[in-house]
Amino acid sequence: MNNIILIGFMGVGKSTIGSELAKKLSYKFIDSDHKIEEIAGMSIRDIFRTYGEKYFRSLEYEVIRDIVSISDIVLATGGGAVMNNELFDILLSKGIVIHLDASLSTLYDRLMDSNNRPMLDHSNPKKRIEELYKLRRPIYMKAHHTINTDGKKVRNIVDEIAEIIIGREEGKN
Ligand code: S3P
Repeated sequence: MNNIILIGFMGVGKSTIGSELAKKLSYKFIDSDHKIEEIAGMSIRDIFRTYGEKYFRSLEYEVIRDIVSISDIVLATGGGAVMNNELFDILLSKGIVIHLDASLSTLYDRLMDSNNRPMLDHSNPKKRIEELYKLRRPIYMKAHHTINTDGKKVRNIVDEIAEIIIGREEGKN
């Protein structure tokens, strides 16, 4: 059950950090949103547009549950995935869950120009980011570990996670 599961807000860098971490640890990297797009044969935006968020969430639940049934993967999840309590519990039991944290101002900078995030299709995206952040961050904090990413380079964040993983394996954490 050596899975490393990255959770956190949209734009925090789960995919970039996850793929670098997987390279470093020689694990397979899986991005749940890519997997969902592959299975559905359409983009996340089109899934939302055509079938709505509820359908996306049920697909997301099934896809992620299936992904974590295999071992030795680094998984980057979509920012809303762990809002499903049942799915969060599955993830906590199937690997080490790492919350990549960032301040609101870092996230604003990273998300304001984003046009591929249906959750931010809103007349006031800044307000929407703030609302979702307030709602979600306390939930993300239930992860096994939280890492602050503000102002850090990808390489340093990857090293930090790798140290946690190695430390846990050695029974230090
Ligand atoms: C979502 C985040 C997205 C994607 C979908 C919904 C969310 O993934 O799963 O648009 O609810 O936060 P990222 O966190 O990779 O942007």
